[in-house]
Amino acid sequence: MKTLSVSHLLGIKYLCEEDLHLIFETAKHFKEVINRPIKKVPSLRDITIANLFFENSTRTKLSFELAEKRLSADVLNFSANQSSVNKGETLVDTVNNILAMKVDMVVIRHPHPGAAHFLSKKVDSCIINAGDGTHEHPSQALLDAFSLKEKFGELGGKRIAIVGDILHSRVALSNIYALKMLGAEVSVCAPKSLLPKHIDSLGVEISTDFAKTLKWCDAVNMLRVQNERMDLNYFPSTREYSQNFGLTFERLKSLKKEIVILHPGPINRGVEISSEVADSDQAIILNQVENGVAIRMAIIYLLASKLNIPIA
Ligand code: NCD
Repeated sequence: MKTLSVSHLLGIKYLCEEDLHLIFETAKHFKEVINRPIKKVPSLRDITIANLFFENSTRTKLSFELAEKRLSADVLNFSANQSSVNKGETLVDTVNNILAMKVDMVVIRHPHPGAAHFLSKKVDSCIINAGDGTHEHPSQALLDAFSLKEKFGELGGKRIAIVGDILHSRVALSNIYALKMLGAEVSVCAPKSLLPKHIDSLGVEISTDFAKTLKWCDAVNMLRVQNERMDLNYFPSTREYSQNFGLTFERLKSLKKEIVILHPGPINRGVEISSEVADSDQAIILNQVENGVAIRMAIIYLLASKLNIPIA
């Protein structure tokens, strides 16, 4: 059996192209499974997984939980706002206590960049990063790339634009790593204040001209403005932001071609994307959500197969 080159999923940065293809191949199989009348496989019935969410989440949390249940794993859910973290316990102590209950795998979302990486060095368990602050969100980038591959076939030479709050977005960084590894051309487009200083070192096109970027691309990934991570005003007003960087139906119609539209969710309708565009046939936002479960099943299954636990 083919295996991943890593024993944790900490970021796309630590994966190689073969890992990505193996995850996609496995996800394709699981997508077929979850579309059957019986959506479950017994593969991970001897595995226990804890989902530790120290930040808000809807899609990612439910998607991981469902992926684990579809694989027949036992699942523990933990939300920071109801836990002993509020009584002063450290992250490592919290996780070691959970692991003492014989948990085999930990999915963690945390506001601090590097939290998943830190944990993988400090505790004896398989760690999956479900988003670490403004750093990486590997499972999101994998499901985005998988969804684009379903549309385009191979991504080599395809032009993918990532538009919006690049500065605070973990989705942007993980997408850049994944798409470039798969041979796509990547452009990031945002107001200057929302572009990180060293973005040019990532080998992407950089643009502040949304109209030009739309003309250039085959697909566009629209990012939410991450207000919860902002300590300053990065642009004069939301209205001005959406006038310049919001994807409206008029903008789409003015293009002489059909582009594919992605969004990781949650959507702020009328800010980065209009309702009409979000609900249009060109948007694959709900396909992304469907694919998210299959991709997370693949990640968990492949990592579990590296543990010394029988897999059915
Ligand atoms: C993203 C996240 O949490 O980074 N959402 C998600 O995982 N579906 C993007 C966002 O919050 O805007």
